[in-house]
Amino acid sequence: MHLHKYEKIWLVFGMASLVLFLLIIGFAAFWKGTHPQSHMETIDPQNVEAHDAFKPENLGIREVADGKYIVNIVASAFNYDFGKDTEGNANKTIRVPKGSTVLYQITTKDVVHGFQVAGTNVNMMVEPGHISRYEAVMKNVGEFTIVCNEYCGIGHHQMYGTVEVYE
Ligand code: CUA
Repeated sequence: MHLHKYEKIWLVFGMASLVLFLLIIGFAAFWKGTHPQSHMETIDPQNVEAHDAFKPENLGIREVADGKYIVNIVASAFNYDFGKDTEGNANKTIRVPKGSTVLYQITTKDVVHGFQVAGTNVNMMVEPGHISRYEAVMKNVGEFTIVCNEYCGIGHHQMYGTVEVYE
């Protein structure tokens, strides 16, 4: 079979770019720890409090073992509920020591929201009826802004919070 020279060039280019993109995906997944959140568990969005993790008293951060934390969050238009502090004010900041492993568990009562901790690998879509989970090691010290990155309505820009990683 005779292949035209240009046809060979494009064939090689096509196959090489396929291999290149697979390598990039492999690098992101296995070296950089980028992977989609778990959506395996479902929940009744009308009654998220029925799930232990999303009872009002269980929202926010909890240390479950040395250096291991769970953060439970309920998203709704237009707020992230991290629970309340001892004075009854809404928490807006999650504080963890550097190097800790944090499992973020989040669900929504109404529409699709996003949950991104800017500058980290934590980036989830939050869908009504599902629990989104993502575990991350907080390697770098700093203040990281939590943003909703799915347009959810008129107050979309008001959905934010902070993760503070201290030394
Ligand atoms: Cu919630 Cu945008």
